[in-house]
Amino acid sequence: MNDIALAYDAAADAWSTGSARVYDALASAIADRAPDVTGHRVLDIGAGTGVLGLHLLRRRAAHVVAVDLAGQMLRKAGSGVSPVIGDATALPFADGAFDLAATAFCFSHLDRPEQAVREARRVAAGLLSGSFAGDSDHPAKAVVDEVVRRYGFDTPGWYTTMKGGHPMDDPERLAGLARTAGFGTVEVDLRQVDTGIAGNDLAAWRLGMAHYAPFLATLDARSLDALRRDVESAVDGLPPLTMSVLVLTAS
Ligand SMILES: C[S@@+](CC[C@H](N)C(=O)[O-])C[C@H]1O[C@@H](n2cnc3c(N)ncnc32)[C@H](O)[C@@H]1O
Repeated sequence: MNDIALAYDAAADAWSTGSARVYDALASAIADRAPDVTGHRVLDIGAGTGVLGLHLLRRRAAHVVAVDLAGQMLRKAGSGVSPVIGDATALPFADGAFDLAATAFCFSHLDRPEQAVREARRVAAGLLSGSFAGDSDHPAKAVVDEVVRRYGFDTPGWYTTMKGGHPMDDPERLAGLARTAGFGTVEVDLRQVDTGIAGNDLAAWRLGMAHYAPFLATLDARSLDALRRDVESAVDGLPPLTMSVLVLTAS
C-alpha cells in the first residue's frame, strides 16, 4: 500500500458523505461524452466509490468492474459494480478483457501516467478519461486549507506533487499520452461543470478529501467538531462550485 491508497482508505467515510456528491456530478458530465456503451464490458480504473461506472451502467453498459488500490473506497461503491483491488499501472486483467476503460481523477495521482494509459489500452479497445484542467480552482480550497493548517495540518508530499503541474491537467500532454499508448483517434474536450454544491456542502467536499484524512484521524472529537465549525464559517458566502474538466475519448 502506498501513501495515496492509505489516505483514500482513511478518507472513505468522509468522502462518501461529502466529496462523492461533487465527484458524482463530475462523473455525470464525463459519462455524457462516452461513446455508446450499450452492452459493453467497462472497467472503471481508480473507481473510488464507483460513481463513473454507475453512470455508465445507466447508459446501458452490460457490466462494470471497479478497480482501485483503496479497498475502503471500493466498499462504498454500490452493488451494481464488481470491485477488484488493483493498481492502475499493473492491471490484473487479460489483454482485451474490456470494451471501454473509463477513469476519473485517478491518473493525476501517478508518477508514470503513461504506464496507466498503456495498461488501459492493453485491456480495452477504448478509453474515456476525466481529469481537472490546470486552471480548475475554487476559493473554498484555500480558505479550508488555511483553517486546517491552524489545527496543525501539513500538506503531504504526494498531494503537492499531484497539484504541481501534471500531464493529465494539460490538453496537449493528455492527448499525447493517449497517442503514445497507441490510440489512433484521440479527442480532448474542456467542460465547465456546475456541480450545484454550495454552503456547508463545500465544507463537506473539502473535509472528505484524502490528503486531509490521515491528519483529521489524529484529532479528538472536540477538536474535530471545532475544526468543522470553523471550516463551515470560512466557506459561508462563497460561490457555488463550478469545475473545469478535461474529458478525453480515445479509440
Ligand atoms: C480522486 S479519487 C477519484 C475516485 C473516483 N474515480 C471518482 O471520480 O469519484 C482517486 C482514486 O484513485 C485511486 N488510486 C490512486 N492511485 C491508484 C493506483 N495506482 N491504482 C488504482 N487506483 C488508484 C484512489 O484510491 C482513489 O480512489
